[in-house]
Amino acid sequence: MSASTRKILVTSALPYANGPIHLGHLLEYIQTDIWVRFQKLRGHQCTYVCADDAHGTAIMLRAEKEGITSEQLIERVNSEHQQDFSDFLIRFDNYYSTHSEENRELSEYIYNECLKNGKIAQRSVTQAFDPEKELFLADRFIKGTCPKCKTEDQYGDNCEACGATYSPAELINPKSAISGATPIEKSSTHFFFKLPEFEEFLKTWTRSGTLQPQIANKLSEWLDSGLQEWDISRDAPYFGFEIPNEPGKYFYVWLDAPIGYMASFKNLCLRDPDLNFDDYWHKDSTAELYHFIGKDIINFHALFWPAMLSCAGFRTPTAVNAHGFVTVDGTKMSKSRGTFIMARTYLEHLDPEYLRYYFAAKLTRHVDDLDLNLTDFAQKVNSDVVGKVVNIASRCANFITKNFDGKLSPTTDEEALLNRFIEAGDEIADLYENRDFGKAMRLIMELADTANQYIADKAPWVVAKQEGKEQELWLICSNAINMFRQLVTYLAPVLPGIAEKTEAFLGIQLTWDARTKLLLGNSVNPFTPMMGRVDVKQIEKMVAASASPDAKPAKQEKTSKVTSESNEPIASEIEFDDFAKVDLRIALIKDAQHVEGADKLLQLTLDLGGETRNVFAGIKSAYQPEQLIGKHTVMVANLKSRKMKFGMSEGMVLAAGPGGKDIWILEPHTGAKPGMRVK
Ligand code: 2FM
Ligand code: ZN
Repeated sequence: MSASTRKILVTSALPYANGPIHLGHLLEYIQTDIWVRFQKLRGHQCTYVCADDAHGTAIMLRAEKEGITSEQLIERVNSEHQQDFSDFLIRFDNYYSTHSEENRELSEYIYNECLKNGKIAQRSVTQAFDPEKELFLADRFIKGTCPKCKTEDQYGDNCEACGATYSPAELINPKSAISGATPIEKSSTHFFFKLPEFEEFLKTWTRSGTLQPQIANKLSEWLDSGLQEWDISRDAPYFGFEIPNEPGKYFYVWLDAPIGYMASFKNLCLRDPDLNFDDYWHKDSTAELYHFIGKDIINFHALFWPAMLSCAGFRTPTAVNAHGFVTVDGTKMSKSRGTFIMARTYLEHLDPEYLRYYFAAKLTRHVDDLDLNLTDFAQKVNSDVVGKVVNIASRCANFITKNFDGKLSPTTDEEALLNRFIEAGDEIADLYENRDFGKAMRLIMELADTANQYIADKAPWVVAKQEGKEQELWLICSNAINMFRQLVTYLAPVLPGIAEKTEAFLGIQLTWDARTKLLLGNSVNPFTPMMGRVDVKQIEKMVAASASPDAKPAKQEKTSKVTSESNEPIASEIEFDDFAKVDLRIALIKDAQHVEGADKLLQLTLDLGGETRNVFAGIKSAYQPEQLIGKHTVMVANLKSRKMKFGMSEGMVLAAGPGGKDIWILEPHTGAKPGMRVK
């Protein structure tokens, strides 16, 4: 490693392990990945780690709803996340989980150090409690009627209808969003990190070049108005790490989440002999540490995290880089408009490098939101990447292959012009370093304009038809390919797929330093197309595929077809393939029972011809159990089992009707046999 090689550790925020990656997430991972790839291309030892943020009540409840364990849920989501990231060409050096032994050990260590240093307090806290689920309820798990505008079904901290904010105690008729029970107030002991004791440290740290000015100003306001102690514990049941020597008390998910950065790196150190944990985390470390995050989680990263690290004797981050939110076509991503786009849905329709380029072209070092304008997206990618860059090679490469046996000219007659391309690399590098990717893309596109002007002026396709001008044609095309090589080197952090294809085409490795040596006399391989144009129809299809089936159109009564009986709008169309996934079978109702404590459910034992299923059906208002026994009905046999309050439900029987006494289960004609497929 040379003296100027930097050791850099980089992280992106850890996504929660209970949902899929969407375009809002991707801005951050693409931004970080571009920065990391740039550092690697420059020859620095740059390591990029991430993990799933696997703990907390939301994950525990989600797993319960799916009838699986939290461990099963986080394992499944982890592999889905990794696949999405990989397909967007985001290359982590390690992708781990906060539910790991390394993280448990580090979290306990940091907590114990804070405890030893007298920075942990304990006191009783009174909170809403779900007496049925026996669970303390965070504000978002309480619903009720807004005390201001009286809209029903609003969350415990704010009203979506009138925008009022309030405490859950102010809600009219509050209910637990989990069980529907009325919450009671209950006290328990909580553990607190004494953040106010770090005020002086944080005032210095936040002003030492670690934060963007806009963020530092915001933090100054918080610091000036006084810090509060931070509640770092949650009571059982909770999916997380139990606090040492405090049975039934767990670390709040936000305590062990950032420690997950360290844990993921520690896990990588186990298998990479070039990396040493202490080199990066010791309090005297000279390695650089950068966290890329969204602006909404700045308090966790720029207050709690540096305070805890310093308290436990570790180094603090070199910088925390915050970005804004993604909007689509000028507004918040929306399910009903089809602009809440999942990573996977995007990938099913469009090339990931389109989005990487578009985000890069619009990213700055500041905290502004970024608008993905879908019309502009198509135009920009088509005009810049396809029209200006990829076209250079496609216009000149074939002459080299056909007329010059795949060899570039051993000399150039445009040394000054090619040097301009090389020298521009220094300014482009500064822009990348400072995360001014948009400006970097503009500079690169100016160079691409120069290259295209050169080709247009020299018109190789005309020269090729003229007698005795082989030498001239050779020089033009070789110069153009040299310019193309510079452009792709500069774009490589953003467009790694195109960079890889260019390496195969030119038979070289693209690095920032290697660019200073021109390609003279090199053999190149036949050119194959590198990227097609954005197809606007694909964008439309992606938006249609993203429109949520249960999202209500703005003016429902006018735009939806309405069934005469129920007045419920027909749900949005599905493809035949979606329908075909449903495995409908004849089932014999062998037994039916009341369910104690359930208002609407009956418990059915269904015979599927050799297999018995337990199903809870919401048909109690319409049937007595004894009316059902012995009947044949139709069930969805491949519905994922669900853990309900009263037990597992292993399928669903089909019934229709407006409700109350008027619900009818499907009853096939005689001749139907249990287990028969219904088509
Ligand atoms: O806001 C979030 O999505 C969190 N899961 C981010 C955690 S970042 C870090 F601290 F782990
Ligand atoms: Zn309201």
